[in-house]
Amino acid sequence: MKKILAFMLSLAMVLSLAACSSGTGTETTAAPETTAAAEETTAAAEETTAAAEETTAAAGETEATGDVDTSAAQGMTVGVCIYKFDDNFMTLYRQELQSYLESEYGANVTIVDGKGDQAEQTNQVQNFITQGVDVLILNLVQASSTEVVANMCKEAGIPAVFINREPDEAEIQRWTDEGIAATYVGADARQSGTFQGEIILETENKGDFNGDGVVSYAMIMGDPENIDAQYRTEYSIKALEDGGMKVEKLFEQRGDWDQTKGQELAANALTQYGDKLEVIFCNNDAMANGAKVAIEAAGRVVGEDIYLVGVDALDETVGYVAEGTVTGTVLNDHVGQSHTAADVAAQMVSGQPVETKYTVDYVKVTQDTASEMAAE
Ligand code: BGC
Repeated sequence: MKKILAFMLSLAMVLSLAACSSGTGTETTAAPETTAAAEETTAAAEETTAAAEETTAAAGETEATGDVDTSAAQGMTVGVCIYKFDDNFMTLYRQELQSYLESEYGANVTIVDGKGDQAEQTNQVQNFITQGVDVLILNLVQASSTEVVANMCKEAGIPAVFINREPDEAEIQRWTDEGIAATYVGADARQSGTFQGEIILETENKGDFNGDGVVSYAMIMGDPENIDAQYRTEYSIKALEDGGMKVEKLFEQRGDWDQTKGQELAANALTQYGDKLEVIFCNNDAMANGAKVAIEAAGRVVGEDIYLVGVDALDETVGYVAEGTVTGTVLNDHVGQSHTAADVAAQMVSGQPVETKYTVDYVKVTQDTASEMAAE
């Protein structure tokens, strides 16, 4: 599975062309050295170089994080706040973040569990400020609390790297306007939603098993506190419509990124709508893994009478995609994102200028790609 990830990361880098910033701009896409592909596989090296060239060319004046002197960040102390430890994707993310910070920067890293409670997390931020950490990496419980937390960090003179839960544009703009040392590192969730819709469009019947010209679907949503949930819900369906399909929403409920809830909701949708239900969209793989169990329990067969898609490319789900029991998923590149977050944190600690937003590309995973990679 390591190989699969490395292959996907190299793909992600190849696809990661559009750096839309200049030295004075506010956004960039996937800093060249954020990929782990080059470290993990030689096969990826060629594509990585190509991608790096393209990114650098497109980025104009934007400094590649790899070219910046971050020696002052060696041994830095980093406080990391995660919205809750009990989340499959954020668990992979924080483990990768910690090991990269330690190996690349000899950092002293403390990671705390917000337990889904913003008040508790705000206290944890305050504790890190009191301890005088060099930089904070923040996966907020509520993106709407970004302003308060960014102001706390500014007062304390501690740079802040927000991750995973994207603040609104006005808040990001405020950092530039008010000279706040803050940045956001994530991915554009619209892209992941679009890829989910495209995966369905690429199937033989484009999601229309009963041939009535309409894709009848259920949407199992993540926690709407993360804009990823809203964008994936909207853009997966938009892609179907843009591809010429009519759609009918039979069911839409929030499963809060949770596998058990995903299973329960999918079971409810299947009981309520039976054969009429043709596609189950899940905003993430944990919920898709749950939905897979419910589909099998209902005697339905993915690929034969129903489709199921998720996002994240958890190892388990990529395995299901390879065997055909989940139709597809989308790689949410926790390696690229965590490395970028760490590199940008190091730049800020070193007093280097940074952009206010960095995004890492998603990658579509279908049975062909998943099996091909599994065979490597
Ligand atoms: C991931 C989810 C995760 C959520 C946490 C999303 O980007 O796809 O799996 O639960 O972030 O905020």
